[in-house]
Amino acid sequence: RATHISIAKAVCKDSHTKRLINDAIMNNDFLKKLEPQHMREMVDCMYEKVYTEGQVVIQEGEPGNYLYVLAEGLLEVIQNGKLLGEMRPGTAFGELAILYNCKRTATVKAVSQSHIWALDRQTFQTIMMRTTQARHEEY
Ligand code: CMP
Repeated sequence: RATHISIAKAVCKDSHTKRLINDAIMNNDFLKKLEPQHMREMVDCMYEKVYTEGQVVIQEGEPGNYLYVLAEGLLEVIQNGKLLGEMRPGTAFGELAILYNCKRTATVKAVSQSHIWALDRQTFQTIMMRTTQARHEEY
């Protein structure tokens, strides 16, 4: 039952960080369709990772286990060896493999040292399940 499913540990964040992550989610065409309660819990459960210059965050063609929000730094998006574009702070990415259970559609690489908030698939699914079940129990 909903009340017995424990949520992953929330990570403390200041209001500026919470707003940055929330705005990034709202600016993503796929994630903005999620419910406000889901978004709030996603923001709470994200944890920070630091990537060094040149480090690969996402590898095209691999299964995806994280959803990300770039807080600081610069990333590039590459598909079939071709540069598709850059990502700047306030961008959510890696949502496609998480939402649609597909392989990573592109490679994402750090151009400079980057601070990225991450949410793992298990926590994402727990959040979705928990609030859906909680709602069902209201009826
Ligand atoms: P995903 O396929 O999980 O992993 C790679 C991510 O790169 C993808 O999710 C999107 O978030 C992002 N992405 C894919 N294609 C593009 C593109 N053409 N421009 C910018 N970002 C992209």
